[in-house]
Amino acid sequence: MPTVLVSKDLPGDALDRLRRAPGARVVVGAHPGGGVDLEDVVALVAVLTDVVDGARLASLPNLRIVANVAVGYDNVDLAACRARGVVVTNTPDVLTESTADFTMGLLLAAARRIAEGDRVVRGGGFGGWAPSYMLGTAVSGATLGVVGLGRIGAATARRARAFGMNVLYTQRRRAPEALERELAATYTSVDALFSESDFVSLHCPLDETTRHLVDAERLARMKPGSVLVNTARGPCVDEAALAQALATGPLAAAGLDVYEREPAVHPALLARDNVVLAPHLGSADRRTREAMARLAADNVVAVLSGEPPLTPVP
Ligand code: GLV
Repeated sequence: MPTVLVSKDLPGDALDRLRRAPGARVVVGAHPGGGVDLEDVVALVAVLTDVVDGARLASLPNLRIVANVAVGYDNVDLAACRARGVVVTNTPDVLTESTADFTMGLLLAAARRIAEGDRVVRGGGFGGWAPSYMLGTAVSGATLGVVGLGRIGAATARRARAFGMNVLYTQRRRAPEALERELAATYTSVDALFSESDFVSLHCPLDETTRHLVDAERLARMKPGSVLVNTARGPCVDEAALAQALATGPLAAAGLDVYEREPAVHPALLARDNVVLAPHLGSADRRTREAMARLAADNVVAVLSGEPPLTPVP
């Protein structure tokens, strides 16, 4: 029987919605080959840890859609999908505000040493207030450099403006003038952004042009005492180089939600107090995750019903 293979259990009503897909059964969490005839699989609801490459596609010869429960889709080989006529969808918009909230949280935690302070208090190390005790980096009046002023980058910049920050941004093409005006955001080159920002936040997709976008050379350009935040994709940053820049400068701190070899974290980062490490939680509030799962399910139902997908990847 035609099967919708859901790689991981989903929150909210997404599975109920999937069960409405005409003439298909829903199987959650089957291991490749385990309990599912791969020839029956017509839809795959994938998560960002699923690698959907040529080999995976070859094992699913009747696949019609890959519905990724994420806005990023670097885990999916788009060209291979296109070659096989497999539709690929993602979950834009529904996670924008949530991810921008989390980015701001990481930025503040890194700048003001919130997670480090928590560890100090729990460890019994809080000896009382003192004028020079655990001083962090000022946020208001500082300059935030946004790499990728897309949906999440713009939502982060909006929050940064509310915190009194100035905004620089870089991306391949200049943003619409109205957005620049709204955010009072100044367009600049990648290298200038790294040398002129007090905070840099990454919001670019991962592809061959952004892999190790933050390398030793770019880190060396950053201002003394600056802060890097990454809620995009881990491989955009050379983690070994980042650990070095946190140890010997110029960076004061970093806030990371994503890792080069996720879920592994570079041991040199784990050893440092001036980096806040989150376990890929950018979109992880209940309402947002339910909305992402629902959108992925609705994409599957649309395609299996012969309708156009709601959110195909560009
Ligand atoms: C999460 O990282 C996403 O791309 O949605």
